[in-house]
Amino acid sequence: MIKRIKNKLIRDGMLSLVITVVKIVFKKTKYKFSGGVVQRNQYNTTRRKHIYEDIWINKSVVFKGRSDFSDEASPYLDWRAKRLSFLEKKMPIQENMTCLELGAGFGDISFYLASKNAIVTCCEGNKNNFTILESKMSETSNISCKLLDNDKDWSKEFAANSFDLVIHWGLLYHLQNWERDLRLSCRVGKAICLEIEVLDSSDPYLSNWRRETGNDQALNGIGVVPSWASIERIFVEEGMLFERFDSAEINSGIYTYDWVAKNDESPAKNLSGGQRRYWIAKKES
Ligand SMILES: C[S@@+](CC[C@H](N)C(=O)[O-])C[C@H]1O[C@@H](n2cnc3c(N)ncnc32)[C@H](O)[C@@H]1O
Repeated sequence: MIKRIKNKLIRDGMLSLVITVVKIVFKKTKYKFSGGVVQRNQYNTTRRKHIYEDIWINKSVVFKGRSDFSDEASPYLDWRAKRLSFLEKKMPIQENMTCLELGAGFGDISFYLASKNAIVTCCEGNKNNFTILESKMSETSNISCKLLDNDKDWSKEFAANSFDLVIHWGLLYHLQNWERDLRLSCRVGKAICLEIEVLDSSDPYLSNWRRETGNDQALNGIGVVPSWASIERIFVEEGMLFERFDSAEINSGIYTYDWVAKNDESPAKNLSGGQRRYWIAKKES
């Protein structure tokens, strides 16, 4: 009987759908890869109501996953508010300030900056997220949006120093080409606010990769988590003066910034939560 059902499911191409759904429902999926850690539904899933992953069968999407950047219970809300109010204390958003946001999700941060009369360019790489972001644009507003994959060489997109401020939050560790992306981000801005998860290491060349799935995770399926020292090396090499804020004021739920470095090369215990850092870097003038 079981064999007959199984054969029928295989015949109808439904087996992988059933397996994927069962795995997602029971949140039991675990992968092992040799080079790094695998991240999957890493957040406090009880607070999340969406399935984030697209489900593919025979090369086509049969179910579209969803991000929850703006939902009422989303952990993004408080986390975003804390990072924004901290930024405003350190670097007030002024009228006509030009801002670039990268990996913007549904653009909530950009819309806030635009409400302060900044002139904002809002970029996102995931087409599902971008469609929602784009639908929120209005012709008259001081905000525009662009579909941009930060893993690609985007050096031709913007001229050097075109922006007073680049907001680069929650994105770098979703990239494979993180180093090129960080260098480009430094080059197009006079200042950058960078927020990411890091490895706890003073080794300026250490990083660790992992596979990621989900609509608010790595667009290209692999993310690299660099050590905090690797980030600071790039700032120095790009001629940026930087300040890092290991401040409890930015802590929100699983996202923490005031942890004390042990330099034991560890990844965050709570995957994307836990071990994060927040920098503001400016061009030496
Ligand atoms: C963790 S969310 C952060 C959202 C927002 N920046 C924040 O900090 O609240 C990561 C975002 O980066 C986007 N992303 C992932 N890989 C990307 C890539 N290669 N290029 C551009 N965006 C990417 C995701 O789609 C998602 O919107």
